[in-house]
Amino acid sequence: MARKYKIALLPGDGIGREVISEARRVLDEVITWIDGLEMEIHEFDCGGEYFLRTNREWSEEAEDFTKTEADAVLFGGIGAIGPDGKTVRRPDGNLAGYSVVIGLRHELDLYANVRPVKLFEGVPTPLVSKGPKDIDMVVVRENTEGLYYPARGRVKESDRDFAYDLRIITTRGSERIARYAFDLAMTRNGAPVDGRRRVTCVDKSNLLAGCQLFRETFTRVGEEYKETSKDYAYVDAWTLLAIRKPEYYDVVVAPNEFGDIISDLGAALQGGLGVAPSGNIGVKHAVFEPVHGSAPDIAGTGKANPIAAILSMAMMFEWLGKNHDDAVSIRTAEKIRNSVELVLHEGRIRTPDLCLGEWSGVVPSTTQQVTDEVIRKMKG
Ligand code: NAD
Ligand code: IPM
Ligand code: MN
Repeated sequence: MARKYKIALLPGDGIGREVISEARRVLDEVITWIDGLEMEIHEFDCGGEYFLRTNREWSEEAEDFTKTEADAVLFGGIGAIGPDGKTVRRPDGNLAGYSVVIGLRHELDLYANVRPVKLFEGVPTPLVSKGPKDIDMVVVRENTEGLYYPARGRVKESDRDFAYDLRIITTRGSERIARYAFDLAMTRNGAPVDGRRRVTCVDKSNLLAGCQLFRETFTRVGEEYKETSKDYAYVDAWTLLAIRKPEYYDVVVAPNEFGDIISDLGAALQGGLGVAPSGNIGVKHAVFEPVHGSAPDIAGTGKANPIAAILSMAMMFEWLGKNHDDAVSIRTAEKIRNSVELVLHEGRIRTPDLCLGEWSGVVPSTTQQVTDEVIRKMKG
């Protein structure tokens, strides 16, 4: 059933702001053009730059709306550099913006961080012998436990100085992320190499107790999915395998911190962070964001690729559509994704990160020009 969705937009810092303002332009267009799509957009400032100005990571209103009223959240990324040239941090040592990027994952119980790794036609991959037919997997990162469990600290005394990050992995957390990964595989067409549904558990269970629990639970849950192939790799080896034979992978599930690392590797395979979208998904809530951060090295230059943010928004529409049984929202997701694919495939309009290999002769476009072209394709 179509309904009026309330969306929180949280641009954040650096290129987070730049790419979310582009996603918003696409959003404003689809609201105008697509019959039956009704949205209420609430945009709020947040992150490290906001913290520098106000000593808060976001306003009470922003926090309240995001946590209690929003049907979905679209977030850019945080991470600001202060006047001293260092990353801005809260007095407790956490990144300024932590409440938004990590706090929401914990507080809204967004247990699945879903990071599709799909190489579109027209996008350069650093793997010379691989193309779009070889790279189409999804990294499912456990999102509330592991090294991100908020139990860390520093002990600094006259005779000893150390820091610790407790790595908590529970049966419940492992069970629900394994089930998410197996269910996701059921909706896909299998691995590019053989069309087989395959879920790969990536861990370090040769050494770590938490990973042993994670893997055992994965195997137990996997027994319920008879037709799906259960696959295993140690995380160190997986980084090599993913580069050698990405076509073998369909859905890849990993504990939190390994999921963080391997999803940036996945992003590289699919053409870079500029085109890597994600969704942090729970039972009732979800936050969508590009995999990238605030990219201070290119902020303010017009070089940021808005596609990761626009594709994250498409994931948001798909999730809303599935959750609310709303065909209009699903169609909106498809429309946005198809338009992005067309722009990439044509190849003329692209930010510098994609002007590589076969496309090294293309004159780079700006962030805004890429969005203009996506919108043009959407209308066309
Ligand atoms: P980053 O993702 O911001 O950038 C890594 C590299 O990729 C940079 O060279 C950058 O220019 C490039 N890049 C990223 N997004 C791009 C885009 N859309 N188009 C073109 N190029 C792009 O990671 P970093 O430099 O390690 O971190 C910068 C800040 O962002 C840090 O403060 C970090 O903590 C934070 N961060 C936040 C998030 C988040 O909020 N979800 C994610 C990652 C990093
Ligand atoms: C991500 C980011 C965050 C993470 C940082 C900013 C804390 O790298 O979303 O992948 O480690 O999860
Ligand atoms: Mn990351």
